[in-house]
Amino acid sequence: MARILITSALPYINGIKHLGNLAGSMLPADVWARFKRAQGHDVLYICATDEHGTPAELAAAAAGQDVRTYCDEQHAIQKRAGDAFGLSYDWFGRSSSDANRRLTQHFAAALEANGFIEERVDRMIYSVDDARFLPDRYVEGTCPHCAYEKARGDQCDNCGRLLDPTDLINPYSAVSGSRNLEVRDTRHLYLLQTKLADRIRAWVDSRTDWQPLARSIAFKHLDEGLIDRGITRDLKWGVPVVGPDGGPRPGLEGKVFYVWFDAPIEYIAATEEWATATGGSWRDWWRLDEGADDVRYVQFMGKDNVACHTVSFPATLLGSGEPWKTVDTLKAFNWLNWYGGKFSTSQGRGVFMDQALELLPADYWRWYLTAYGPEHADAAFTWETFQGAVNKDLADVLGNFVNRIVKFAESKFDGVVPSGGTPGPVEAKLEADMAAVLAEATAQFEAMEFRKGAQALRAAWVLGNEYLQEAAPWTALRTDRDRAAVGVRTGLNLVALFARLAVPVLPFTAGRIAATVGANDLSWPAADTGWTTALPEGRPVQAPEVLFRKIEDALVTEWAARFGGGEG
Ligand code: 2FM
Ligand code: ZN
Repeated sequence: MARILITSALPYINGIKHLGNLAGSMLPADVWARFKRAQGHDVLYICATDEHGTPAELAAAAAGQDVRTYCDEQHAIQKRAGDAFGLSYDWFGRSSSDANRRLTQHFAAALEANGFIEERVDRMIYSVDDARFLPDRYVEGTCPHCAYEKARGDQCDNCGRLLDPTDLINPYSAVSGSRNLEVRDTRHLYLLQTKLADRIRAWVDSRTDWQPLARSIAFKHLDEGLIDRGITRDLKWGVPVVGPDGGPRPGLEGKVFYVWFDAPIEYIAATEEWATATGGSWRDWWRLDEGADDVRYVQFMGKDNVACHTVSFPATLLGSGEPWKTVDTLKAFNWLNWYGGKFSTSQGRGVFMDQALELLPADYWRWYLTAYGPEHADAAFTWETFQGAVNKDLADVLGNFVNRIVKFAESKFDGVVPSGGTPGPVEAKLEADMAAVLAEATAQFEAMEFRKGAQALRAAWVLGNEYLQEAAPWTALRTDRDRAAVGVRTGLNLVALFARLAVPVLPFTAGRIAATVGANDLSWPAADTGWTTALPEGRPVQAPEVLFRKIEDALVTEWAARFGGGEG
């Protein structure tokens, strides 16, 4: 039994996440966590809301709430949405926790003691009318690269380039709209990544178990050359910068750490939150000198987060000089697009987690986003492909199989797993074919190849249907009841097997499928398990209410109109 630590990139607190966010980090992390648990491993799956920074302050202001209240509410909303999607976090923490404040301050002190942090005087935009500095998104203006007029201080949403607030042409305050701005000196802490570049490169080089996308992004950043990075901001909401005595630090009073500095530290802090709540130990998951050397640490994230996780966060961990666990396997995802364009929170384009569940149960979405997700390339959400995935894979292939065989057992075999007859060549062939498919599914999920893993599941369901077609117990029943009994018994054992296979991707359905045949083994099947005889003869079975509802064309039309599909 291995110990496996899993984290998915921390969703920002500023509003419920859309399906693209879900598909690129939380969902695959959950699928993999469930897969590993079903194999019997000791899994700790940690996530949290990312609560600091200008996005949180601005969203709270827009909602007319103080930031703490806003974050309390939004955290609860995101937690509920995650639960409803079956995201099986062992802990869903908050980067605004006390644990994260302490750890963030600890890392800053350790980095500074090792000579990797220094104070520098910066020239920052100050708003005279607002009587404050305007970091990151607090200032907007015209992009110097593409002339877009509403570029934000940290990034241009039009051309995607990263910006510094002082780059903007005709800047104005995002708080008040005031253009009465000045550039003033202000003191900040800088993380000297240039001094750490060689160590980071050697460390990246030693990570042979990363996915190619992650490796190439990491090396691209290293090759372009790391820069020293300001890790503090003139904001009220965040982890306060403190002096050695824990009080305000002279010259840096009222400043907080930059959200990108404290967010990844929350992976560790959230584990501490989990330990405090459950009586577990967090240090043996994170400290190499306290037992974490046998932990395998796996991170899931969208490609925009790779630089933070392969360069910035490792700089914090390595630069501390302390024996912290670093990521072993990093799985990065591309974008899920909304038709040709992007999901857009501000323009209300796309489907958000809460809305999705108003339309259909979680497993429908989990299947689609896993089997057709943005894994090795960007993928486009369309209602038509979603409809196809649900109708053709779930309803026609899996749902239909389960329904058909269990109903038949109900009507012709007294609703029990029948006895009699002996398996013949058709069953032997099924067993051999299924062994190959199970091996394939296991290998693909093991390798975090989610689309291929899902296709292997589908192949297993197809085999089941082909077997029923060939064994045709309904025909056999007319002449040879024992032969029919073998077909039904094998079919019902396939149902039990499909329940086990459904656990990672379709966790809600797995339980429902298992219930139809009274199965309670939901462990992941090894290729050579005796699945053909798992169910005792005479066990009562009961057909499910419809497992998967088909999506009618009229619904697709209605949803496309309601969610603005197609004109992106
Ligand atoms: O991109 C995002 O949504 C960030 N909130 C991810 C942070 S992940 C890590 F750094 F904590
Ligand atoms: Zn631009």
